[in-house]
Amino acid sequence: MPTHEPLDAEAKAFQPVDPHVIVLFGAAGDLAKRKLLPGLINLTKAGLMPDHRLVATSLEELDGEGFRKLAHEACKEFGHTKMNKGDWEDFAARLSYVNHSEGAAGLRDAVLRAEKELGGSPRRLHYLSVPPAAASSVVQQLAEAELVERSRVIMEKPFGHDLASAVALNETVHEVFDESQVFRIDHFLGKEAAQNILALRFANGLFEPIWNLNHIDHVQIDVPETLPVGSRGSFYDATGAYRDMVVTHLLQILAFVAMEPPTALEPAAITVEKNKVFRSLRRIDSAEVVRGQYEGYLSEAGVAPDSKTDTFVALRCEIDNWRWSGVPFYLRTGKRMAESWRIISIAFREPPQSMFPSGSGVGDYGPDHLTFDLDESSRLSLSFYGKRPGPGMRLDKQSLQFSLHEVDDYSGDTLEAYERLIHDAMIGDRTLFTTAEGIERLWEVSEDVLESPSPTLPYEPGSWGPEPQIDELIAPHTWRLPFARGWREAKKVDAAPPEDSS
Ligand code: BG6
Repeated sequence: MPTHEPLDAEAKAFQPVDPHVIVLFGAAGDLAKRKLLPGLINLTKAGLMPDHRLVATSLEELDGEGFRKLAHEACKEFGHTKMNKGDWEDFAARLSYVNHSEGAAGLRDAVLRAEKELGGSPRRLHYLSVPPAAASSVVQQLAEAELVERSRVIMEKPFGHDLASAVALNETVHEVFDESQVFRIDHFLGKEAAQNILALRFANGLFEPIWNLNHIDHVQIDVPETLPVGSRGSFYDATGAYRDMVVTHLLQILAFVAMEPPTALEPAAITVEKNKVFRSLRRIDSAEVVRGQYEGYLSEAGVAPDSKTDTFVALRCEIDNWRWSGVPFYLRTGKRMAESWRIISIAFREPPQSMFPSGSGVGDYGPDHLTFDLDESSRLSLSFYGKRPGPGMRLDKQSLQFSLHEVDDYSGDTLEAYERLIHDAMIGDRTLFTTAEGIERLWEVSEDVLESPSPTLPYEPGSWGPEPQIDELIAPHTWRLPFARGWREAKKVDAAPPEDSS
């Protein structure tokens, strides 16, 4: 029996965080530079960091000064808020670096030094920003260095590269850490907009009654990116779009869209519902997967000259349960595509009969849609047919739209996904993290795609993927992207016109 009342949401978010030593593995890598180091500074500026020290480690032969320089450049280049001299100096003073070559003993010394500076028995947060192949050796190094006590560990995706490796990795992790210490991160779940799916579905009476096969025709989760693989060639070539994006981010988002109402906003309750979705997910059939590789990929640094790695995936999947039976979910993502978006689009069924004559415009622009933009502005749009003003009855596609950016009160409140999740891990809140069971099931439903992949088709950089296969996959529907009508930019409402004085 709990001896105290559970914390309410506000108290939980702002509860004091214990002092922490954060150990960042892969500290000179792409993710650390783009997201983690700038994110830690931003959390400090937002007043959400406890007293802490950061022990950075990576394969790069650097000294403390060299690492601080790298971190400073990264924070200047990638930080999403302004960093002044004081912010940087405060952060830099808490930073130390230890080379991977110094082994477990070197790491232990560096952590103990940092702990001594903090005093007491601070918590340890190990962030494993390392490729999947390196994850188990880091876990073993932590055991050898005796840094498991008082610790939590954040593990980056992809968690394993297939079912067998994920099971083996989970076993290694569980030999060292209790599951309650493990935070498998999927940063899409830390996006404000992803959490807004839960708010919209479960805090309102409006949507849930129509959130099922009787009213929803199909769902699209579409995450094209214009970026090439860039400096991540060797990681990416061993991973590919399916493992990098689908088995992690896109299917996690699908679970938020498809799950039953959880009994509480609690990790266990949410995990149960997400895992039920994963258990009901039909095994993905290679025949319903379009894999692509952008032209020019083979000349990217770190990519094998004869690589068949997918830089693009589009697929159809289904959830075999009472709510979703027969409703197709279409997922698509890829690099070097025409535009960058992260959208979820719910297409509603069209009316069974229409009194509007042909030529009126009804149905001309597809079904009504509820669209979530997972971008920072967390935009939402509900589109419907409405009457064009004037004589007769011409119908146009119109929409209700919302963006966080329209609400003055919210400006400055947004945390980047990684920031939100690092903070959650420090307070021990696992609600937005994934579990061993869920991940293993996703690898299981992916077996056919991984073992008998469909051919890797070439596509032009700047396109929407291999044609005509992507259109055939979704027929008779069509992809929402590129949007037929753009999002509306918020317009300031003009002041009332002066009164007529005549
Ligand atoms: C990462 C993938 O997890 O997510 C990258 O490894 C991808 O390949 C990125 O570009 C997309 O994340 P975001 O937050 O920029 O949409």
